[in-house]
Order: sequence, then structure tokens, then C-alpha cells
Amino acid sequence: MTKVTMTVNGKPRTAEAEGRTLLVEWLREGLRLTGTHVGCDTSQCGACVVHVNGEAVKACSVLAQEIDGAEVTTVEGMANADGSLGKIQQAFQDYHGLQCGFCTPGMVMSTAALLKDNPKPTEAEVRHYLEGNICRCTGYHNIVKAVMAASGQEVAPVAAE
Ligand code: FES
Ligand code: FES
Repeated sequence: MTKVTMTVNGKPRTAEAEGRTLLVEWLREGLRLTGTHVGCDTSQCGACVVHVNGEAVKACSVLAQEIDGAEVTTVEGMANADGSLGKIQQAFQDYHGLQCGFCTPGMVMSTAALLKDNPKPTEAEVRHYLEGNICRCTGYHNIVKAVMAASGQEVAPVAAE
């Protein structure tokens, strides 16, 4: 075991890691930041997406020791300072972009990365960018609406269910 320290959601955090400890395990088990989910063992689902040094990364595909000293943002870091939902999270709630919520942390983190690089994406660009995030529940339409709304673009209201 080696002590690994990273700046997580703006604060220095330290926890032990074995050489094989994945970033997602380090966050969930070492720091108890359980908002980052594990939905597969093949690096396909995107439930584990976090930002490492400003880039969206699948936290199940990175070893914690390899990025000792990195700056990491998880979904817990996406809320406003007063604890209320951040803009992207609020848009997912407003546009019913989630059902079970399992994929949502990864969706939110991928959306944040997309909007940083492309603040006004088209729907096609949103769908293309989120290809690495799998949702079993929503059929994606409301996720796309949520992302469009989070980018400040006009979105047709969600039909009542
Ligand atoms: S848990 Fe990382 S991609 Fe599925
Ligand atoms: S809301 Fe259930 S997996 Fe996406």
C-alpha cells in the first residue's frame, strides 16, 4: 500500500492504494465518495466518469497511483457551494434525464466536459459525445434535452408521463 494524494473537488485528499487500485476504487472505498458508480468491468458504461486535470476520464480505466497529485472532480463537486444542485444536475432533474439514476453521475460529468469544449452543442453532437455513457432506463431523449437545457438552448417541454 502506498499513500496517494490528489486534490479532489478542490480539497487535498489522501488514501492508500495498491498498485492495482483503480481510481474509481480509490474514490469510492478510500474517500467514501460513492457518487461515482461502477456499472461494468469492461470500461464501456461510463457510470464512472470523473474529471482528471480537467479532462473526462473513465475512473475504472486509470490506476490511482499513476495519477498521484492529480486534480480530480467527481459528481459530488458539481453541486453549488450552498449544496443545491448545480446547473447540469438541475437540468437533468427538470427534464427527467434520469430514472434509476445509476448512469447519472457519469452523464453529468461527461456533459460538463462536453459543455466546456462546446458550450452550444447541437443535439447530434450531444448524442455523439455521450456515446460512451450507457443508460438502461431513459431511452436518451430526455438526457439530450437536459444537456441542451444545461447549455442554455431552447428545449421543447417534457411531455407528462
Ligand atoms: S465502470 Fe467505468 S466504464 Fe463502466
Ligand atoms: S437512469 Fe437508469 S441507467 Fe440511466
